Amino acid sequence: MTTSTLAAVIYEQGQPAVVETLELGDPGPGEVMVKIGGTGVCHSDHNVYSGYRKTEDLPTILGHEGAGIVEKVGAGVHGLDEGDKVVFAIRPMCGKCKYCSTGRWNLCSPITSHTPTAEFRKNETKYFGGVATFTEHTVVWENNVVKVDSEIPLDKAALVGCAVITGVGAVVNRAKVETGSTVAVWGCGGVGLNVIQGAYLAGASRIIAVDINADKFQYATQVGATDTVDASQTDAVEAIRGLTGGGVDYAFEVIGQPATLRQALEATCEGGTAVLVGAAPDDGEVMIPMRHLFLDRALIGCSAGTGRPRYDFQWLIELYKQGRLKLDDLVTRTRPLTEVNEAFRDMEAGAVARTVLVP
Ligand code: APR
Ligand code: ZN
Ligand code: ZN
Repeated sequence: MTTSTLAAVIYEQGQPAVVETLELGDPGPGEVMVKIGGTGVCHSDHNVYSGYRKTEDLPTILGHEGAGIVEKVGAGVHGLDEGDKVVFAIRPMCGKCKYCSTGRWNLCSPITSHTPTAEFRKNETKYFGGVATFTEHTVVWENNVVKVDSEIPLDKAALVGCAVITGVGAVVNRAKVETGSTVAVWGCGGVGLNVIQGAYLAGASRIIAVDINADKFQYATQVGATDTVDASQTDAVEAIRGLTGGGVDYAFEVIGQPATLRQALEATCEGGTAVLVGAAPDDGEVMIPMRHLFLDRALIGCSAGTGRPRYDFQWLIELYKQGRLKLDDLVTRTRPLTEVNEAFRDMEAGAVARTVLVP
């Protein structure tokens, strides 16, 4: 049997996404079909749409930050039933590879990953995609979803799967920011705002939000920024050194550009740590003065918030229920899936913290 589903497809990078009806097969062994309840528009989706990150795997279905309800369960699936609320995990969590076996779930090896036997099809065309959440229905490996509290609204839960875990996780799992530390964050998009709220949750004493779009500072302040620096008007590194008397303990780059990564490192104090959170462009290179590292500074990367989705998603949602993790303020706009191109335009214009598409 197949299920008809809308999907946002990229046929050619740099061209608008096409929202059309495809046929999706039933989940095979170890797979589940999920009815999407909400899916966030992340800059990583924009990178594929715009061609900033080149891919040969076309046509491709976008979307990775999503939440939904299990609709069909394949043979041999354990711990997931029809009707369960789930949040998608970007990496699969096979539980067996070197990385999973050593607790580094965010690095789960693609070698052990499982491509669903259920495919999206239209006539003879085969579609690529990851968890493919810019759809009404998708089929994924059981290890790509985490069952979560049935009370959380799906349009908010979606953010937990990428923006929240990537941002909050970078602070608490990767950098392990200590209470009282000073923090600067480059980029106040959906992910950067979650680095800010992660720093707030960690008890950072100063949280300096940096952006070139001053409209973003209202959101940054809402989630805990104590200071803002408009990098289109002022030298951010100088401003941060001035505000902190020599630099921050932790600087997070949440854009994915060589120039801002270098700025982040330069804004740390001696002994400080700069963390790359933004997705690196394939050919991106950064030149850094060796003396910075010689003075006990560290430059580290962070993938998907060094997250352990089965564990981290639960406590993040618990904090949301208690009002301590802000998700409602981050969803600036909800649109139907058919308006995906408009959502990308809002992102380009800096008009939103996050758009959530609701099929
Ligand atoms: N200096 C400061 N801020 C900048 C600069 C710059 N040179 N260039 C862009 N920005 C700001 C934008 O104004 C915007 O507010 O960075 C922010 C990026 O936000 P989004 O486009 O919403 O991106 P987001 O989804 O948060 O993703 C950020 O993290 O996971 C990765 O792939 C993702 O690399 C991307 C990054
Ligand atoms: Zn993302
Ligand atoms: Zn693994």
